[in-house]
Amino acid sequence: MIVFDSENKVFYLHTKKTTYAMGIYQNKILLHAYWGKRLNHPIHNDYVEALRYRPLAPVDAAPYSTDMLPLEYSTFGSADLRYPALETKYRDGAYYTRLEYADHEILSGKPGLEGLPATYCEEGDKVDTLVIHLADSLRDLHVYLSYSVFEDLDAIARSARIENRGEKMEIGRAFSASVDFVGVDDMDIIHLDGAWVRERYITRRKIVPGTQSVESRFGASSAVHNPFFAVCDSTATENVGNVYAMSLVYSGNFIAGAELGAFNGLRAYIGINPQNFNFVLEKGESFQAPEAVLVYSADGLGEMSRIYHKLYRTRLCRGKYRDIPRSVVLNSWETTYFNFDENTIIELARSAKEIGVDTMVLDDGWFSTRDTDRAGLGDWWEHPKRLPSGLGYLASEVNKIGMKFGLWFEPEMVNPDSKLFRAHPEWALHTPGRETTPTRSQITLDFSRDDVCDYIINAISSILDRANIEYIKWDMNRYMCEVGSANLPAERQGEVYHRYMLGLYHVLETLTQKYPEVLFESCSSGGGRFDPGMLYYMPQVWTSDNSDAVDRLRIQYGTSMVYPYSSMSAHVSVCPNHTQRRTTPFKMRCNVAMPGQLGFELNLGKCTPEELELSRKTIVRYRELEDVFHNGDLYRLRSPFECDMSVLQFISEDKKRVIVCIDGQRGLFNGPDEYIKLRALDPDAVYTCNGKSYYGEYLMNKGIYHQNNVEHLSIMLEFVKE
Ligand code: DGJ
Repeated sequence: MIVFDSENKVFYLHTKKTTYAMGIYQNKILLHAYWGKRLNHPIHNDYVEALRYRPLAPVDAAPYSTDMLPLEYSTFGSADLRYPALETKYRDGAYYTRLEYADHEILSGKPGLEGLPATYCEEGDKVDTLVIHLADSLRDLHVYLSYSVFEDLDAIARSARIENRGEKMEIGRAFSASVDFVGVDDMDIIHLDGAWVRERYITRRKIVPGTQSVESRFGASSAVHNPFFAVCDSTATENVGNVYAMSLVYSGNFIAGAELGAFNGLRAYIGINPQNFNFVLEKGESFQAPEAVLVYSADGLGEMSRIYHKLYRTRLCRGKYRDIPRSVVLNSWETTYFNFDENTIIELARSAKEIGVDTMVLDDGWFSTRDTDRAGLGDWWEHPKRLPSGLGYLASEVNKIGMKFGLWFEPEMVNPDSKLFRAHPEWALHTPGRETTPTRSQITLDFSRDDVCDYIINAISSILDRANIEYIKWDMNRYMCEVGSANLPAERQGEVYHRYMLGLYHVLETLTQKYPEVLFESCSSGGGRFDPGMLYYMPQVWTSDNSDAVDRLRIQYGTSMVYPYSSMSAHVSVCPNHTQRRTTPFKMRCNVAMPGQLGFELNLGKCTPEELELSRKTIVRYRELEDVFHNGDLYRLRSPFECDMSVLQFISEDKKRVIVCIDGQRGLFNGPDEYIKLRALDPDAVYTCNGKSYYGEYLMNKGIYHQNNVEHLSIMLEFVKE
């Protein structure tokens, strides 16, 4: 619900549990007034009054300085000397923009963001949008700040559109959200960081004076940092404490950070990374910044995650597969790598069918001259030796077995050793006169160009039109360097990174709309681009190239800070694991993969009868439980970052089924007893597990008895409410 108190000039954005408020100071400056627990009464105007004049502060908003005020969308160049949300450059050399409130409108529902992924609402949802118009009358520059309030889902989606009605100018940054907190004393920041095969580990650190941020300059959101940032009480835990989180619906370069000033004012922000970003706006042109999703939780990190999970799985992911059970796949990559032909794939499909797998996915190596990873990317037609009868034949043979057929693509890349590159070297990102640095012998296609996007749309369409392909794994295996486009003039080279993303989103939008029956999975050397932008087009992501069950405990747990388990592809693979050679019991590998989108990635022909039987049972059990894992609520009971175990509790939407997944690595022989307390149960109801009955209050206050005394302990318990 959005309320404008016109007398006091205060906007209130209310969700079920939260309030976000802004005030218009002196009829012109838009101030941030409040963000936190839901308020049912007007705020006090001490969010301005309490701020005292500070010696030496330039007084441009008498009796205050804008440098002291909590600004909703700040600019640099006059009296506010903090890290700004908007940076402009005018052709006369000036760079200062002064934004003042002009007007606002309240819309019911939520408009889309042109060319960009964004959360959305459906009929019947309680969602309204406030658009506040700020203007610089001297430059005729207009900023439209949008706030879409998801009342029942407890989230606010923010974005900014910059419209230039004046002379040609440039934007050096345009953040999606910036929030000024006043009086920040003892608080922490949390973000997700890592590397290839170690994605989204949780980092928590104390906020200190100065700037602290995470950013990507990789051209993709990256495995190194994730476009997510939370500020929380230093005492906040999974279940208690204030958490203020921002998540960016974008897959390219980003920055997320906070600056703590001299008087404990904290400015937290998220948006496109200003590094090598410069957007030229002719008179009449505008720039749309991506969307940032703001979530406040008064009940710790667990509640923050549940809010993101529900919003992202129901109002960010789209399409047929948003709401229905998805495929259990056998993927050929770790199974065969480049050693296969069409008969190998048909045989694999047969063995997969026997254990209940429903989709055979052919990974890398099926096209052009792709005998190694050094050639062929860009040439999207069948490898003549591997698939002599073509993809149409292979798909139909797999279909005859009673399985669906899926295919891998890496559409954003080209190998210099390819027909495509030889014909169109100018189609790759490059800087004139410089060598382009390869990674894995490949370079990046210039998706800021329409002709490149059209080529890829046509290449993929022509395959989908002649073979029954029901699943696509969309891979992207390098970060970008020497970024430049042959298609843009010198003054617009600072637009290439963002225009690349717009091109990619256009391609994904076209293909996913054209082929609504195809399930798309995103991948970037595993989880190198696991972000909300990608989830808008593809509801699941290959979480990590690290499929080891022990390592996956941390990767999946960290990922679950923001992203639901329904978005995490998780495969049972062979041991010793191909990444770090660890051996784990088959049961643990199955149990750890089960809460995600289950799949297999190993040669079933080499499995023992016991492993095949366990695989079969795992798929049956998975089908029984997946609704709880994917549509229920997650409570994290033990963190693998803090102890030797991961304990997750999933509770179904109707609250009748509770799954507890307990997985450990080392265990402690003859170790201590412990009880694990469950959460969110009905205290007066009886829950049954393995023939034993417990009251909810007992399970929540005493817990379930546990001894972590075995190596690779892996237990999955189901409690059913009577
Ligand atoms: C990287 C992916 O993460 C793997 O799963 C696999 O598809 C390879 N690329 C293929 O080259």
